Amino acid sequence: MQKLNIGMVGYGFMGRTHSNAFSQVSHFFDIPYQPVLKAVCARNTARAESFAAKWGYGSVETDWRRLVESPHIDLIDIASPNDTHAEIAIAAARAGKMVMCEKPLGRNGAEAERMTQAVEEAGVPNMVWYNYRRVPAVTMAREIIGQGRLGKIFHYRAKFLQDWTISSDLPQGGEGLWRLDVNVAGSGVTGDLLAHCIDTALWLNGGIEEVSAMTETFIKQRKHNLTGQVEPVGIDDASAFLARFQNGSLATFEATRYARGHKALYTLEINGEHASLAWDLHDLHRLQYFDHGDEGRLRGWRSIHITDGDHPYMKHWWVPGLQIGYEHTFIHQAADFLSAAAKGESASPTFREALQTDYVTDAVLESAAHRKWVAVRSAEAARAGGGAHEN
Ligand SMILES: NC(=O)c1ccc[n+]([C@@H]2O[C@H](COP(=O)([O-])OP(=O)(O)OC[C@H]3O[C@@H](n4cnc5c(N)ncnc54)[C@H](O)[C@@H]3O)[C@@H](O)[C@H]2O)c1
Repeated sequence: MQKLNIGMVGYGFMGRTHSNAFSQVSHFFDIPYQPVLKAVCARNTARAESFAAKWGYGSVETDWRRLVESPHIDLIDIASPNDTHAEIAIAAARAGKMVMCEKPLGRNGAEAERMTQAVEEAGVPNMVWYNYRRVPAVTMAREIIGQGRLGKIFHYRAKFLQDWTISSDLPQGGEGLWRLDVNVAGSGVTGDLLAHCIDTALWLNGGIEEVSAMTETFIKQRKHNLTGQVEPVGIDDASAFLARFQNGSLATFEATRYARGHKALYTLEINGEHASLAWDLHDLHRLQYFDHGDEGRLRGWRSIHITDGDHPYMKHWWVPGLQIGYEHTFIHQAADFLSAAAKGESASPTFREALQTDYVTDAVLESAAHRKWVAVRSAEAARAGGGAHEN
């Protein structure tokens, strides 16, 4: 099997999920590449070395540029905060490396456009880690929708709720808290949590035409960890929007870090003429399905346990009835990417597909700022037109 040398940037939460995925993928999937954990990059040498030793990386770098320049690296995997994505991805593409990037692709559409242009100009395989597409129950939802079982779609509903920033004593910025610093994150829950909901929605229900949003920053000032000063908070703490899809369906989306009691409650529901589907991250191996075509007296919501060999991805795991979890979604994504990359292709969501999500989040923030409906730009039209933000 051909070896594929991976250079990973970042050893935090996502650095661990990705390292685990690359370590496990060839044990469970027949893929044409053998991923090799060649080098990990982070700014703190001692901690990077400890991470490398734990996960089996061959070497350590403290500057991502050395990874990108290295002739021994085939693939750059970006698992660092949002403000680093564009510079690293563009340099990696120009160096001819395959690029995998964490979400959101850019801090805004303009940044994501430049990244998309760079990978397409270089012709390198690329993908963005919107991992919820690879939860078998969510993949199964797409298959059911693709079979036309829902008929005309009327409604899409999604929410992603957390509660970890309620305390006004929580500082912003720096390690672990970069999500509260708008310069690093780009936005708050819109780019962080709603981006996941939007990516899944675009995949399941097609394009979004227009949005009307409201956002709120409940705590207006926080101490900044890097300056030691109390500074204005620039992120949205909560974000909710109405959307109209191209297929005529109406949608509501909501995300917040102020829903006391909720840690990561991602739920979605889709209602069609003939059937409905619902999914809940806290019960991720189940898909709820209601089919109006069932015999009347027996009609009701089915709770399908997605663990059988003919369910998406599941034949690669244990025996029917035994569940898998969160980390497996990254293994599925690595498997799909490596299979595509071996043919010189990208895997979904590609940078261009993830650019579409950034266009939706841009429209959400613009709508909230101006209190008006905003039309969503099209990533495909931007390809045809060469992009509106080129520089
Ligand atoms: N797909 C998902 O479900 C999911 C979940 C969490 C985070 N994310 C995304 O993953 C990315 C990382 O988030 P995280 O939660 O792992 O963050 P984290 O804070 O846990 O880890 C970030 C890592 O990046 C490193 N880093 C920071 N700046 C760097 C630089 N200039 N060069 C090299 N390394 C640098 C840090 O040392 C740290 O190891 C973000 O873009 C985030 O939005 C995605």
